[in-house]
This record gives sequence, structure tokens and C-alpha cells, in this order.
Amino acid sequence: MSRTLIPPHGGTLIECRLTGHERQAALEAAAQAPSVTLSERSLHDLECIGTGVYSPHGGFVTEEAYHTIVHDLRLPSGLAWSIPITLQLSEKEAAGLAPNTEVALKHPAGTVLAIMTVTDLYRPDQTVEAAKVYGTTDDTHPGVAAVKLAGPVYLGGPVQLLNDLPRGPFVEHNFTPHQTRAEFTKRGWDTVVAFQTRNPIHRAHEYLTKVALEQVDGLFINPLVGSTKSDDIPADVRMRCYHVLLEGYYPQDRVFLGTYPAAMRYAGPREAILHAISRQNYGCTHFIVGRDHAGLADYYGAYDAQRIFEQFGRDELVIQPLKFEHAFYCRTCGQMASGKSCPHGSEDHIFLSGTGVRALLAAGERPPAEFSRPEVVDILIEAYQVA
Ligand code: ADX
Repeated sequence: MSRTLIPPHGGTLIECRLTGHERQAALEAAAQAPSVTLSERSLHDLECIGTGVYSPHGGFVTEEAYHTIVHDLRLPSGLAWSIPITLQLSEKEAAGLAPNTEVALKHPAGTVLAIMTVTDLYRPDQTVEAAKVYGTTDDTHPGVAAVKLAGPVYLGGPVQLLNDLPRGPFVEHNFTPHQTRAEFTKRGWDTVVAFQTRNPIHRAHEYLTKVALEQVDGLFINPLVGSTKSDDIPADVRMRCYHVLLEGYYPQDRVFLGTYPAAMRYAGPREAILHAISRQNYGCTHFIVGRDHAGLADYYGAYDAQRIFEQFGRDELVIQPLKFEHAFYCRTCGQMASGKSCPHGSEDHIFLSGTGVRALLAAGERPPAEFSRPEVVDILIEAYQVA
């Protein structure tokens, strides 16, 4: 029986890549065109656009789309979209560039990766963008800081990949939406829940994913491996943690590990929507949204990233959020729980913040087994001692 996976966002998976003669002609055009060297963040975005993670985007946002996204959380077509995928340059980098021309997009090492038809060149109000998208104009917020640092000139227009992007250090876990869809189909999974994380999987994360797994066919562990802030645990250390955890504690045939190449924006609610849409493009039907998803410090309310989903109808966002309250280990229950299932007080609960865990690790102390599996702690302790 042939299976029908969830459709990509907007109905069609948009991959932007030229092959054969078209690629050859575009490479020749790119050699004559002005070029832009991409930042690490723009490389991540180009990968997501090119491979369809950001479907239906076929390029970096135009000025019109930028404004509808920032103000209405929609594309000009009315389709849901929460964070503008921008290509930003400094005035110096943009000097000599003009709308209605082609620009070669280059890797910092010099390779031409893509050709872009620049339809728009604009200088939006970044303070408005920060307030709307990040909910703050505080320049120390890493997402806001990244917007400001990337430059005031925005280029919009379609892109086409001409050469492979460097596949990064996790080649065997780097899948395009086309590939994950094929994998889910092969496994016979009709319902797939995606789990986004920028942390090692601790017991609370494990609890969320396993409660979700009780209700669906498969679990797609999809850790973000693009740029993160400097004190987040590096992706290579996290990947080792995911491997030991999946080997020891998850049913192999019901879990699939693939990396999510985007940069972390720390935009809380708006980023939860972007994360969900990207996972729909990978072929997932459900998306875990827990406490303070994609949040940071106290910029967002603990459940703002869940509430934002109420702004979209079922016809607007096909992937469904699976919402979880703050999870912890309860000593009296003797198991993981949340306020929805545990009657005991906070004195019975073991919960550590990310900062708390990092402080323990930096001091060479092991976080308790109720917080993190010993195999994961071993890797973290070793990584912190080497660092
Ligand atoms: S995030 O930036 O990727 O959201 P993190 O890796 O910590 O950060 O979280 C991954 C997912 O697990 C998010 O949906 C987050 O809300 C959820 N989460 C993390 N810790 C808890 C917890 N203790 N209780 C409930 N949800 C949690």
C-alpha cells in the first residue's frame, strides 16, 4: 500500500538546485557576476532554502515578504511564516550591488555555491524587526545582536544551488527533507513526532520524547547543529551524547536521528513556529513544544511558544504541536512527571537549569542521575575537562 506523508508547508517541496546544462550556464554567469561571501548564518540559511527545509521559500525574502512576516506572521500569499529568512550585508559589502542583477553567493573559502537573482535591495528598520520577531530590542539578546551585526542592507530574491554545500562534520546524519521523507516512508511511519533540541538530551527531554512516542509511529530526533551562542554545549559533544542515549535507552526501529542545519535564533515563540514548519517539511506530523521552547533567560513566558500556535488554524499549519509542561524527576513518585501528573511539592522535584548544569560540569561535578543518564554525564564531564 502506498503511503501519503504529510504535505510540505504550502503543498510542494521547493528544492533550489540547478543541474546539467542549466547549472553550467549559471556557473558561467556567476563567474562574471559580482559576488557576496556568506556568513556562517547565511550558509545555514542557504542550505535550508536549497534543500527544502524552508519550503516554500525559493530564496531570501523580498521586501514585501519581509514586512508581511514581521508584522502579520504570514507570507504575502497568506501562508504562515514567522521569522524572515534574510540575506544581510554591510554597506561596504553591498556597494555596487543593484536590484535586477545576478549575484554569486560564495563560501568563505571562495567556492561559488549558488546564484541569486536579486529582485530587492532594502534597508528595513531593525529595531522594529527586533521588537516584533524577538520581542525585545535588547542588543545583548543573541538573536537581536546577530541581526544588527549582519548589516543594514538586505538582499531578496530567488537562489539556485550550483555546488554542494560542505556537508559538515555529521555527514551520516545530514539528510534533506527529500531523504527523510523517503526514510519515513520506508519505515512505514504515518505519524512522526519531531524533537528539536540545542542541548544534550537530559531526562526531561527523554520523558517528553517517550511520552510522545507512545502515541505516534516514529520519533525524529532533530538536533540543531547550526550556530549557537558560545556557552551552549557544542554540537559534536551533543551528537556523542545522542548516540549513547539512543543506543542505550530508545527502541532503534522507532527512532531516527538527523541534524537540523539552521542557526539558533533564540526567538522563543516565533522560532517555535519556524521549527515546526521546518519539521513538517522533513515529513513530520507532530512537533514537541515544551517549556520555554527556543527561549533564553526571561525574555519569554514559559508557555508563550505553545500559545503562539493558537494564532494559526488547522488549515494554516498542518503539523500539530505536542505541548508539554515543565517536566522534572519527582523523588516521591520515583519517576519523571510534570505538574499535570505529580501532586508533590517542588522540594521533591529535581530540576536543573542549563546554567546550573554547566556550573556543575565546569566544577567537575556530576549532575545527578535523576537529571541526566550516566552515559551522557560521562561524555559531558570529559568534554568539560578537556575544554
Ligand atoms: S531549545 O532551544 O531547543 O528549545 P532545549 O534543547 O532545552 O532548547 O529544549 C528542547 C525542547 O524540550 C523544547 O521544546 C523545550 O521546550 C523542551 N524542554 C526542555 N526542558 C524541558 C523541561 N524540563 N520540561 C518541559 N519541556 C522542556
